[in-house]
Amino acid sequence: MRVVIVRNYDDVSRKAASIIAGEITSKPNAVLGLATGSTPLGTYKELVRMHRQEGLDFSRVRTFNLDEYYGLAPDHSQSYHRFMEENLFGRVNIKKGNVHIPDGLTKDVTAFCRQYEEMIRQSGGIDIQLLGIGRDGHLGFNEPGSSLGSRTRLKTLTEETVKDNARFFSKASEVPRLAITMGVGTILDARKLLLIASGGVKAEAVKASIEGPVTSQVTASALQLHPHVICVVDEPASRLLLKKDYYKYVEKIAETVEAEARI
Ligand code: F6R
Repeated sequence: MRVVIVRNYDDVSRKAASIIAGEITSKPNAVLGLATGSTPLGTYKELVRMHRQEGLDFSRVRTFNLDEYYGLAPDHSQSYHRFMEENLFGRVNIKKGNVHIPDGLTKDVTAFCRQYEEMIRQSGGIDIQLLGIGRDGHLGFNEPGSSLGSRTRLKTLTEETVKDNARFFSKASEVPRLAITMGVGTILDARKLLLIASGGVKAEAVKASIEGPVTSQVTASALQLHPHVICVVDEPASRLLLKKDYYKYVEKIAETVEAEARI
C-alpha cells in the first residue's frame, strides 16, 4: 500500500485528480469507479479544470458509482445521480450511456444488484476505484459488520452515517436509512484503489484502516488485502499514523528514483 501524505485538502484533490487523469490518458476507455460525499468534490473540480484547460477527454471513459440512497429519485436534490451530474458528468464530455449509478428506485433490488455486478464484469472490470472513508471506517456504504466478501446489495445505514449525512438534507427525518452499495468484495475486484481522506475527523478511521487489524468492523481495513492501493491523505487525517515518517520517506525515495530515471 502506498500512503501519500500531503499538506491539505487542495493537495489531496490535485494528487487524486492527477492519478485519475493519468489513468484516462494511458487508457482512454478506462473504467472509473466513483464516489460521492464532500471529499471528492475537489478532485472532481480539478478533473473538470483539466478537461476544460488541458483537454482531458472523457468521451470514451466509462464509470460505475459506488452507491445511491434507496428510495431517492435520480432528480432528488440529494441523490447521488444529481451529485455526479452537478459536480462531474454535466461538466465534462462523458457520454450518458457510459455512466452507471445504482438505481435508488428499483423495484427488484436483488435483480438490480446482480445486474449491476454483471455490467461491471462486462465492462472489463473497474480500472481505478476512487474511495472516500466514513468516520466509522466505511467504504461505500459498507458499514461496520459488512462482510469483507460482500457484493452489491441493499444496506442499512448506521445512526452515525445518517447523522453525518443529515447536513445535506433540510430535515433529519428526510435522510434515507437504506442505500444500494457495491460490496467490499466488489470494491476489492477493481484493479487499483485510490482512497482519499482529509481532516482530523478522519484520523481515527485512517489509522484503523491502514495500520489496524483487517476486520469487518472497519471495512476500509480490507484495503490491506489489495495489491494496488494508493491512500492520499492530508496532514490532519494522517495525524494518528504510527509509521507516518516511514511513508513520507518512501515517497521521497520514489521521487528520487523517478528523477534519476528521467536524467
Ligand atoms: C459515498 C461513499 C461514502 C463516503 C464517506 C465519506 O459515495 O462511498 O463511503 O465516501 O461516507 O464521506 P465524506 O467524503 O462526505 O466525508
